[in-house]
Amino acid sequence: MIGGRPLVVVGVPGNRRLDLFRAAAESSGLPEPEIVPWRDLATGPVGLPEDALVRVDSPGGDVETERLLRGWEHAPDLYRAEGTADQHAGFRAALARLAEAVAATPGAHLLQEPADLVDMCDKRRCHARLDAAGVPVAPALPGPVTDYATLRALMDAHRWRRVFVKPAHGSSASGVVALATSPRGQVRAVTSADLVRGADGSVELYNSLRLRTYTREERVAAVVDALAPDGLHVERWVPKAGFGGRTVDLRVVVVAGRASHVVVRSSASPLTNLHLGNARGDLEALRASVGPRAWAEAMATAEAAAACFPRTLYAGVDLLASPGWREFTVCEVNAFGDLIPGVLHEGRDTYAEQLHALATGRFPLPERV
Ligand SMILES: Nc1ncnc2c1ncn2[C@@H]1O[C@H](COP(=O)(O)OP(=O)(O)O)[C@@H](O)[C@H]1O
Ligand SMILES: [Mg+2]
Repeated sequence: MIGGRPLVVVGVPGNRRLDLFRAAAESSGLPEPEIVPWRDLATGPVGLPEDALVRVDSPGGDVETERLLRGWEHAPDLYRAEGTADQHAGFRAALARLAEAVAATPGAHLLQEPADLVDMCDKRRCHARLDAAGVPVAPALPGPVTDYATLRALMDAHRWRRVFVKPAHGSSASGVVALATSPRGQVRAVTSADLVRGADGSVELYNSLRLRTYTREERVAAVVDALAPDGLHVERWVPKAGFGGRTVDLRVVVVAGRASHVVVRSSASPLTNLHLGNARGDLEALRASVGPRAWAEAMATAEAAAACFPRTLYAGVDLLASPGWREFTVCEVNAFGDLIPGVLHEGRDTYAEQLHALATGRFPLPERV
């Protein structure tokens, strides 16, 4: 317990995140956290113990949770890239139920603000919030980008040749398209989406660990058109720094205002997400090569991004540095971006860091009843 209060985690039982959090609690000398399954929260009200400190973890990875959140009769295929708008609507409704449960339980307190979680899981809203606070972000098309034709018209109007097209509620590079166009009409789209066409001409998109490159415009259009109904966020493609012959960016986990855990994501492709087979880069070598000033500015930028969500205990900031490390761009703030096993700060992993911030009063909590 922290200050004698029980810890509750909303999560998917049996997944790695919960195992790591449980282990962090144990190594911090805390009793085992109580788990509220996302499946329960996805369907109805949940009960909480008095004075509970409630931490929300990712609902991802569980087919039945996904089905319930989306309100679908049939089980969703977790490899498909479409369907994220329904997922987000269910996520919003579930968080509203959780907020009600917390309000109805004496002394209970949420360690993340539901509105923050909702905004972080909507790239358009997240981008707008960062931008309004003066945090550097890539310029974005005003939208709505309802289909490929609209995308190209808006790109022309802005005179942008290269963009990142992202499903507004996507994560883990699902449906992300790095699109480059030439004045002579050529297109080149690099994406994790594998386009599969049915005999009737229908289009299905499957998340793939192997990036695809589409150069036939009709295919690129089919990918974008299939993703558009879920809502798109389109940003100008920002040039990224290189290191050791690869493109790099950073995942920075910020806990209670402090950038503590960093992973270098190193890639031969424009998408750096680690599960795509990209390697963790050499943090110390990179840090030494960019120097203390640029590094401090990078960390300050990640902290400024997380500070847009001040009542939320932790966030995983994806941070791009320009070649030369003079400019920084926040490409997203992940609500559940703390799964970076093995990365330690002062001997603590990201989960122990959250518990440490609570135990030491670095993340202020309202009084218990
Ligand atoms: N505007 C951009 N310019 C250049 N690269 C980008 C841009 N936006 C995203 N990326 C790259 O694409 C990857 C996925 O984008 P991100 O916004 O983090 O979405 P996801 O939720 O899928 O991780 C990032 O890791 C980053 O390397
Ligand atoms: Mg990301």
